[in-house]
Amino acid sequence: MRHLISKLVILSLLLMGTQLQAANAPTRAFDGMVVSANDISSEIGIEILREGGSAVDAAIATAFALAVTHPTAGNIGGGGFLVYRPVKGEPIAYDFREIAPAASYPEMWLVDGQYNFQKHHMSYWSVGVPGTVAGLYMAWEDEGKLPWKRLVQPAIRLAKEGIVMTHGLSRSLNRAMQRMKVYPASVKKFTKDGEPYEPGDIWKQPDLAKTLQRIADKGPDGFYKGKTAELIVKEMEANDGLITLEDLAGYEAKRREPIRGTYRGYGVISMPPPSSGGTTLVEMLNILEGFDLAAMGPGAADTLHVMTEAMRRAYADRAKFLGDPDYNEGIPLDRLLSKDYATELRSSIDMKKASVSTPEQFKLLKESPETTHFSVVDKERNAVSLTYTLEWGYGSGIVVPGAGFLLNNEMGDFNAGPGLTNDQGLIGTPANLAQPGKRMLSSMTPTILEKDGELFMVTGTPGGRTIINTVLQTILNVVDHGMNAQAAVDAGRIHHQWMPDQINYEKQMFSPDTLKELEARGHALNERTNQGSAEVIVNNVREKVLEGGVDRRVPDGGAATW
Ligand code: GLY
Repeated sequence: MRHLISKLVILSLLLMGTQLQAANAPTRAFDGMVVSANDISSEIGIEILREGGSAVDAAIATAFALAVTHPTAGNIGGGGFLVYRPVKGEPIAYDFREIAPAASYPEMWLVDGQYNFQKHHMSYWSVGVPGTVAGLYMAWEDEGKLPWKRLVQPAIRLAKEGIVMTHGLSRSLNRAMQRMKVYPASVKKFTKDGEPYEPGDIWKQPDLAKTLQRIADKGPDGFYKGKTAELIVKEMEANDGLITLEDLAGYEAKRREPIRGTYRGYGVISMPPPSSGGTTLVEMLNILEGFDLAAMGPGAADTLHVMTEAMRRAYADRAKFLGDPDYNEGIPLDRLLSKDYATELRSSIDMKKASVSTPEQFKLLKESPETTHFSVVDKERNAVSLTYTLEWGYGSGIVVPGAGFLLNNEMGDFNAGPGLTNDQGLIGTPANLAQPGKRMLSSMTPTILEKDGELFMVTGTPGGRTIINTVLQTILNVVDHGMNAQAAVDAGRIHHQWMPDQINYEKQMFSPDTLKELEARGHALNERTNQGSAEVIVNNVREKVLEGGVDRRVPDGGAATW
């Protein structure tokens, strides 16, 4: 009773606070929170927490639910990363990135000696061996409390009984059908006999429900072996694809040691290679630690200038050094993550003048913004940060006939081919060339911050190469600028990735004076629409409350609370 009364007192104080800062008020919860790009899926995560499931259990159920509700990026036919920080014990990262099929080779994107974009990004060859089911299962084996079946069951129900088609999803599907209409199983899944779904329609996915049931009954064997594997391989064989039964049976998720860094007394825990995310994030934070960003102010020209210069330097290192660690010996992680190296880089920043990204190197290929991230915190404050993807929105656009799920086009994240580096955007450096069994370089940056031994913040976002910079800005907004989780998510974002040498900035989020000042310092500016969709939870230790920030840049997102 006393516990209840104190909760009510705190809640009423919080509500008063909410009135005072209504514009960017975060969602609040005491006992658990899931923030994802789909509100139904967030609720499913909370349902699992209420039943006594762990944060990892809730994340697994949310991930399977997103494979039904958020087909742009939620998936079982793609891959991703999960970073887990338990209250007791060491943090761990689960790597379930897709791998190249055994028949892959570095020159595989060349046709008659010429690089072929279609083959690289929009063909059966663009499909990597999926990792999601193996990765979620590995995390469950380590940290699951509820039965595996229970975690897949809500997704099966959603697929079988159907979900209400939202305005956002129907619009996105109608756009994507232009690309997917050449695949009959995709037309069957995403339309009513060729007619588009309208908002309010009930959308059922019976083939996907059956595949999920096999995964519920048999674990990874329900995906990588037996009927599901046979359906994937049948589709590959009929279309000159590369993935074999052996590729599927041989897929392995990996446990990895997370990247660790510090920023102004906060511990940073993030994803190691084959993601470039954690390394690049910590490198930028180390550079920025030497500037008084709080005094400069959020969105000020000085702040944006030093952020840009940190981004420029860290993204250059990303392109030079990072790839699958199992195929690249000697990635200089210790140096890239060191404070001394950051000091060296910082000393080359001129406050009055933009540096120039040197063109003896190369521009970077465009990376797809379509990925999805969610954050989970349970009652004890165990935390999961999970980002997974199909690469492009709806991946390859290829639905496996009879199995009802989309295949990724993640092979597009490998470099174009040996020596193909040019100023038109191709990269040919060896670290990230296709090889059998290799993981393609990623930018996904699921991240957790801690302070004085306690959980502080869970953050992450989709957005291709912009991911790392969006995650950076959510952290700076909270740590340096004192914003709450929602304000930190809402604030305007910039992106610089070394090449092309320009700042992309979100439209209407920065003052014209600030933009003029950046131009005066020599920065090229490029206006863009939304950048990313960050889903953030801050653990407010003082008030014993979780504060969530939902990104409204995309429709349908939501924070579910307990
Ligand atoms: N495909 C997007 C990424 O892995 O970063």
